[in-house]
Formats: sequence, C-alpha cells, structure tokens
Amino acid sequence: MKISVVGSSNTDMIIKVPRLPVPGETVIGDSFTVALGGKGANQAVAAARFGGDVTFIGRVGNDVFGIQALKGLKDDGVNIDFTVKDPVVPSGIAQIVVDENGRNIITVASGANQNLCEQDIMKARKSILASDILMLQLEVPNQTVRFAAKLAFENNIRVILNPAPAHPLDDELLGYISVLTPNKQEAEYLTGISITDERSVELAGRILLERGLTRVIITLGTKGAMVIDNGGAEHVPAFHVKSIDTTAASDVFNGALAVALAEGKNFYESVRFANAAAAISTTRLGAQPSIPKREEVMAWLRKHP
Ligand code: RIB
Repeated sequence: MKISVVGSSNTDMIIKVPRLPVPGETVIGDSFTVALGGKGANQAVAAARFGGDVTFIGRVGNDVFGIQALKGLKDDGVNIDFTVKDPVVPSGIAQIVVDENGRNIITVASGANQNLCEQDIMKARKSILASDILMLQLEVPNQTVRFAAKLAFENNIRVILNPAPAHPLDDELLGYISVLTPNKQEAEYLTGISITDERSVELAGRILLERGLTRVIITLGTKGAMVIDNGGAEHVPAFHVKSIDTTAASDVFNGALAVALAEGKNFYESVRFANAAAAISTTRLGAQPSIPKREEVMAWLRKHP
C-alpha cells in the first residue's frame, strides 16, 4: 500500500511534570527528553511501521534538528526524496509538558513547516498520484493543504484529513476529503457542538457530513471512536491501558487507519486496529519513539479479541 503524507516535522522537547501548570505558574518537572515529532512525520512513521510504503512531503531546516528528523524518517523506511531542507528557516520545534496522567500541553514554533508550498507538492506530484491514500493535517500552510487535497481528489486518490491543530475549514476543502478524523475538541471547534455523550458525537458528525463530507471518524480518547457516514453511526470501543503520555496518539491512530483502509479492511476493523495502535503508543513517552510496529499491534489484537 502506497501512502503519501504532506505535513510537518518537529523536534519535541518534552518535560514530565507531576501536574500541568496554570498560566503564570512554574512547575518543577522530573525529566527532560528530546524526541522526533511533528504531526506529519509522526503519521508517516506510524504508517511505515504498520507496513505502508510511505513518502513524506515536508520541510525541515538546514540544522541539526532537521538532519536528525530526516535520519529518523529514513531509518523507518520512509521515502524522503520530497522532504525539502529549507536553506533559511530553522526546523520546527515543539515544547511539550506531560503530566502524571499522560495529558499534555503542546506549543509549536513552526519554522520550516510554514514554508511548505505548492511547488513542493508539484515536485512530489507523481508520487502522490501513485498513492492509495494521501494523509494531511493542519501544521503546514492551509493553501498547501488545499492544493494537495485538490490534486489527490481530482485524481481519485483517497484523502484522510486529520484537522489538527483545530483550524477553520471551508466547504471547498472538505469536498476533497474522503475521511475527516477530528478528536473530540476538534469536532467541537468545527461544529460548535458540546460533545458530552454518544448522541452529541453523532450530531457533530452529522453537521460535518452536511458540509460535503462522506465520512467522519471522531476519536474520543479512552471512549474509542465513532464512525459516522450517511449509512449511520458506529461506535468502536477503545482498549484500556495505563497511559503515561498521550502525545501523538491521534497521529498513530491516523497512520494505522490509513494502512488498514489501504489494505482493504472495512471501517470497523480499520478503526479497531487504529485504536489498538494508539492505545499502545500512550504507554510510552514521546511521539515517534512511542509508535509500535505492526507485529506488536497484531499480537495485542489477538490478546484482546
Ligand atoms: O501530535 C503530536 C505532535 O504535535 C508532536 O509530536 C508535536 O511535534 C506537535 O506537532
């Protein structure tokens, strides 16, 4: 299965703290870790570890962080022929604080990610058009996301858009998307619905469908995920684990979802596979270091029928 990912690459600076600070407060943490991250690169690495033949289209800076990010992608077998080393702007950096329950606060200095442009997409055109699925998120410029989505749509390539971080989306862009995968907060942001129970999840999904989408998968953390399309709504339960860091759980979910769909699994099975992969990732610290390999997810699914 060939998967192209257009998106961001960051280096994550992670501090583990007993609890998240409130504005103006200093909280002393107990460890500092540097790890590879960025929603786009995380999704690319996840899809590769789950068996995809993955190309990453993005930008890093011409600095030590960019060199390490490229090495990480390459070590995972991701094709980086269309990952540009920006000659001027530094690599993207994320500062992440993670509490004892695995919850986090993330701030990002986008750096080179903000320079990903239409020409970069055009250079990767052939590779995108040879893909089964194009994966997108919102950490690179909107117009680049739209350009890539339109290119894929017009050539019958399925597009998964993970609308993170939350950002207004217009109906034209939504019209190019095969599957939208917001989490609870992003679905609330996009619809104005307060999600409190299964009914409100479904309602949020229906509002998004009315805007031209054919399928929405709303991820709900420990409550699993809901697949909503014109045929109805189906809840896929989560796997329960002791989470130490939920960073990149959505990215792992999306990478696994893309591979499973490209393999021809149905939506229920694909989401179940993605839920298992995401759950395992939350038991480890960091974004890319936490992503399991396909065999581990398969073994997990056998143990949790
Ligand atoms: O989704 C998690 C990612 O968000 C982190 O790896 C961080 O880099 C930010 O992009």
